[in-house]
Order: sequence, then structure tokens, then C-alpha cells
Amino acid sequence: MVSQLVHLNCLNKNRYGKGLDTSDIIGTMKPNYKPIVETFDRLASGYAFRGGMEEVNRMTLAPVVAGWKGRILDIGCGAGTLIEKYIRPDMQEVYTVDFSIGMIHETKMRLQTYAGRNLFIVNSVAQSLPFARDSFDAALSVNTLHNMPDWPDIHQALAEMVRVLRPRGKLLVEFRNSNNPYRRRLSIKYDKPSLPQKAFTYSEIAVALEKLGFIIEEGIPLAGETVHANFIGKTLERLRNMKTMTVQNAPRFAILATKGPGFRSFLIGDQVQV
Ligand SMILES: C[S@@+](CC[C@H](N)C(=O)[O-])C[C@H]1O[C@@H](n2cnc3c(N)ncnc32)[C@H](O)[C@@H]1O
Repeated sequence: MVSQLVHLNCLNKNRYGKGLDTSDIIGTMKPNYKPIVETFDRLASGYAFRGGMEEVNRMTLAPVVAGWKGRILDIGCGAGTLIEKYIRPDMQEVYTVDFSIGMIHETKMRLQTYAGRNLFIVNSVAQSLPFARDSFDAALSVNTLHNMPDWPDIHQALAEMVRVLRPRGKLLVEFRNSNNPYRRRLSIKYDKPSLPQKAFTYSEIAVALEKLGFIIEEGIPLAGETVHANFIGKTLERLRNMKTMTVQNAPRFAILATKGPGFRSFLIGDQVQV
């Protein structure tokens, strides 16, 4: 199974139990990624304890992924708090990629039962995945793509996901919604080189995925930020929002898609050029 994956040295070296040397990854990373890695390394030890709407969204999305079978790629493991909600070791082998060694450490700690058996934690960059094309049955990235420096980086990560997915493979991606006025303001206010906060409309992402050769299956509205400063106001607004949200107006949204026959990228070596 692993023989279908490329760059085995990288995989083996960074798999848990076999060392955590990230020097090769940091060395090849674009300079503007380094402050982001540093931010996530700093946040890592407390990340699992962050609850709120992100946890609600994990609970919304985990059942979708729990139904998938085969080899699954998860871009951005964080502290493993999403993986632990969906992983089904009897029918899934999960590979998760993250560029923060601090986050990888947290995931390993939380998911020791699976690490090295059904869960393989790979220290790498989403824009250059160390896997051969058509290696995975499904791929996801939740609460991660908006933290990449700019649209070309996000697009490259999506292109890499489509490259490593097999035809008819499933994709689940989550984004911040720039069509939600409050979320748009927050994204602009907090967007920093050390922690980007990019936001897009549902249509922008759906069109980009279709151009990459995906067939859109479903848009899933997700909870998120509110305009209220106090706890009660926030809670009431979130509950109200959950009833009326659409992918067009929700603070966040996810898209479920399938890699279709229209994948039109030109493969040069094993790197995708879209
Ligand atoms: C906010 S956390 C989300 C974690 C998890 N998906 C969840 O929903 O709980 C984002 C993670 O993506 C990782 N990440 C962000 N950009 C990345 C990139 N370009 N390549 C690899 N990992 C990246 C960060 O290190 C961080 O662990």
C-alpha cells in the first residue's frame, strides 16, 4: 500500500515513532510560511481546548467523513480534535499532513492508539504533498485553507488534493464566507502575515473546484462568528443563525465534491500545473 506513495524517505522519517526532524521541510518552505508555522507551533499546546463554534462545526462535519472508506488524506491536523471524531480504524487509513511540529506532537499525544497503525502523521506542506497521484480515496481540509498566505497558495493546496485523489474520490473543504458581512470584516481586521484569515464566497470556491475537475455534491452552511459581544447575545444569535443559515450567508461553509472525469491539469513529473 505504502509503495504507491512517493518520497518514502520523507514519509518514513516523519512518521511518528521514527523521528521528528523538520529541517528539510522548513528549508524548502516559502519564506512567508515560516511566521504561520511559528504561530501554530505557539498555539499548539492549548489548541485542543479551544471549543466554541469550531467544535460545533467539527461535530457537523465528522459524521460525513466517518462514512468514508479507504485511504483518507486530512490537510491540517491541528491537535487531532477533528480526526478523533471521525476516524474509523476498521475501515479507514488516515494520512494527515501538517507543517507545524507542535500540532503534530499534540495529535500524536491525543491519538496514540491509532498513530502508526491507522493514522500516519506527515510533517509536510499542503502545497507540495509527498504522495503519488491517485493515492487517496478521499481528502479533506477543515478550518485550515483560510490560514494560507493568499489565494494562489490555497489554489495550489486544492490542486495538490485533486492530484493525489483517485478518480471519483471525495473531497470536503471548509472556508470562511466573505459574503457574510460580519465575517468579512473580521477577516480583513485579523488578516496578518503571521496568521492569514482569508475569506471567499461559496460561488468563488465552487467555481474554482469545478475548474479543477470536481463535481459539487453539496454545500454545507456552518456556524461561526456573530456580531454580539456578550455570551448570551452570541449564543442566541448562533442558535437563530443555525436555523436560517444558507451556504450563501453563513459565517463559514463547507463543500462536498467528487473528483470527476473533467480533471484537466497537466501533469509535469508528479507536480500539478493548473
Ligand atoms: C486551525 S488548525 C485546524 C485543525 C483541524 N483541521 C481542525 O479542524 O481541528 C489548522 C492547521 O493547519 C496547519 N496548516 C496551515 N497551513 C498549512 C500548510 N500550508 N501546510 C500544512 N499545514 C498547514 C496548521 O499548522 C494547523 O495545524
